[in-house]
Amino acid sequence: MSDQTNVRAADYGLPMYFDMQAKMGHTKHLGGRYATQKLAELCQLEPGKTLLNVGSGSGISAAYVAETYGCRVVGVDLLPGMVESARSWAAAKGLADQLEFRVGDAQDLPFDDNQFDALICESVNAFVPDKEKAMREYIRVVKPGGCIGFTEAIWVKAPSETVAEIIAEATGQQFHSPEVWEALFQNSGLVDLHSENHPLSVRDEARNQSGLVGFRDYMKILGRFFRLLFSDRETRSLMRYVGSNPRQYFEYMGFGIYTGRKPK
Ligand SMILES: C[S@@+](CC[C@H](N)C(=O)[O-])C[C@H]1O[C@@H](n2cnc3c(N)ncnc32)[C@H](O)[C@@H]1O
Repeated sequence: MSDQTNVRAADYGLPMYFDMQAKMGHTKHLGGRYATQKLAELCQLEPGKTLLNVGSGSGISAAYVAETYGCRVVGVDLLPGMVESARSWAAAKGLADQLEFRVGDAQDLPFDDNQFDALICESVNAFVPDKEKAMREYIRVVKPGGCIGFTEAIWVKAPSETVAEIIAEATGQQFHSPEVWEALFQNSGLVDLHSENHPLSVRDEARNQSGLVGFRDYMKILGRFFRLLFSDRETRSLMRYVGSNPRQYFEYMGFGIYTGRKPK
């Protein structure tokens, strides 16, 4: 798979704002630090363990997990620009020894069988066309007894067709009901399943998002964002589009956390 940074998100059918996020060095998932901590705890991350973070984006969660739980983290992402961005973040945080990032597709992971103690995906599988195939890959690369965890954006309240269309356009992703993610786990052969679903609270969300990066880094990311906004016409038009994300629809949105274990 190409390691060149001139590959665009649209080439893979991914939302165009991923290109902007790669340049800004900032991706996110609903639930922010809360969801990451919960996955780390459910997967019992600790020093000596190796985690695979699929769809690692800008590497912020991967670095947070490596720093907080002392484990080694390998990140893999489809977009070379994201991998570049994650490598820079790891170097800036002084965590390059604990972190490694590679280009790769969730549906065809570039790793041997039974390599990782745990695997997490944060707001990734909604973008993956063949979710069952990706799940088979996750199970293949995790060691027997290893934990697989997702956090994904969900509908907490059934939306009308219009609301679903508006949200899909504004966020670039298809939200699902919790049952879709729960069924993926139930049909996978994983054991010890855990599922929890949370509505979106705007106040908690702001705290959970900034909680993964810290105030100083958040300011630096904001600085990069404003520089891009001034210098890049494409970013300006994208922001007009993404900025239309309608707050009145937050009541329909939430995030789910799902984990299971590969049988021993
Ligand atoms: C919403 S971002 C989340 C990034 C990161 N997990 C986070 O929480 O900040 C989704 C990420 O998944 C990646 N992605 C989408 N489809 C993928 C696939 N098939 N294989 C690997 N990564 C993928 C995107 O490039 C993007 O970096």
